[in-house]
Amino acid sequence: MSTLSTRVAIIGAGPAGLLLGVALERAGIDFVLVENRSREYVLGRIRAGVLEQGSVETLTSLGVGERLAREGLVHDGIYLQFAGERHHVDFKQLIGRTVTVYGQQEVVKDLMAEHDRLGSAIYYDASEVFPHGLDGSSPSLTFDHEGVSYEVGADIVVGADGFHGISRPSIPSNELTFYEREYPYAWLGILANVAPSTDELIYALHEDGFAMHSMRSTKVSRLYLQVDPSANIADWSDSRIWDALHVRLGLAGWTLHEGEVTEKSITPMRSFVTSRLDYGRLFLVGDAGHIVPPTGAKGLNSAISDVTLLARALVDHFHGDDARLRGYGSTALDRQWRTQQFSQWMTEMLHRRPDGDARAFDYRSQVGQLAYVTGSTYAKQMLAEQYTGLKLDGV
Ligand code: FAD
Ligand code: PHB
Repeated sequence: MSTLSTRVAIIGAGPAGLLLGVALERAGIDFVLVENRSREYVLGRIRAGVLEQGSVETLTSLGVGERLAREGLVHDGIYLQFAGERHHVDFKQLIGRTVTVYGQQEVVKDLMAEHDRLGSAIYYDASEVFPHGLDGSSPSLTFDHEGVSYEVGADIVVGADGFHGISRPSIPSNELTFYEREYPYAWLGILANVAPSTDELIYALHEDGFAMHSMRSTKVSRLYLQVDPSANIADWSDSRIWDALHVRLGLAGWTLHEGEVTEKSITPMRSFVTSRLDYGRLFLVGDAGHIVPPTGAKGLNSAISDVTLLARALVDHFHGDDARLRGYGSTALDRQWRTQQFSQWMTEMLHRRPDGDARAFDYRSQVGQLAYVTGSTYAKQMLAEQYTGLKLDGV
């Protein structure tokens, strides 16, 4: 058994854990980060693509925004498409804010490069990762790594281990309530080696279901289709996917360019929030505490906002002031519930309901909703304010 001691033991080296590590290092607070997958696996996970302006500011202020500034694509707005029309919602014009398209993988790559430079204590490929003594004053983390068993004593343990991690289940079940809903649809996503056919993201409601055109760079497109949650990826050949994308995104005078598909996968859609993000010396950030359906592009951004709030609170804590740390859970959850309603609103406005009595009614009502949103400056401002990101505390 090898025994270590640190101030903050972080479980999970996804974007939340890696970012918290950089924020702590900047404040001179030492940490140990333990990840149960390989570095290559973490780097290879294709997920989110849109950064709120506040997320860009956080990454920049922590000194990991250099490539983001060079390669990120700043978008002034999005397109909403329905009933054969495409409408631009111009965030910049409406509220003076923008978003940046920059893949989660790129954020992770930049954070890993910074940790390499710093020589951070990160244990990839760890197994048997377990937190202990969370309700006492000296918690610890045990894990196995390259044949050695470790015990890390810490002041604070942070659960940045995503939805399927070990941190949330370490809180006694009678201390937690889960609020959740599943949606009767899923997203089939592809990455394609082709220049985007659009300058900004297109979110489309079509009678056949939702479709979206996003991108990763000027050479790589990211596209999504609403599919049944029971859909099997093997039934979706590349040509079937492109055909559906042509139908759902199609518009007179506009061409969707096809390219080699390099990745395809199906993601179920879920909303999930825990009733608390803290338990004794444990603090949850990101997907460990909450999940949103991807329609509002909020998953990664919420992880970044949690980390920003927690990092501030930890800095105060190690200077002897616990007020922010005590308030972390409720401050982060307040913001999260605003984010949840936005993600749910975008999702339900843009996806076709499955078969049922109200399906035809709902579709027409959704078209009415989109016509209202795109026709009202107030509604567009509301969308713009939320899509580009709410303030960290309060609206
Ligand atoms: P994660 O990225 O999940 O990182 C958690 C880390 O903890 C992982 O590296 C994991 O391996 C590690 N871990 C887990 N268990 C343990 C353990 N026991 N011990 C040690 N380490 C552990 N959001 C969007 O905004 N847009 C999208 O298009 C989008 N697509 C998504 C597609 C998929 C398939 C998924 C799962 C999520 C998607 N999201 C999307 C959400 C977004 O990617 C997440 O919100 C974001 O990754 C959250 O970051 P995180 O660091 O909290 O969690
Ligand atoms: C993406 O580019 O992967 C992406 C963009 C916007 C979303 C969801 C996913 O709402």
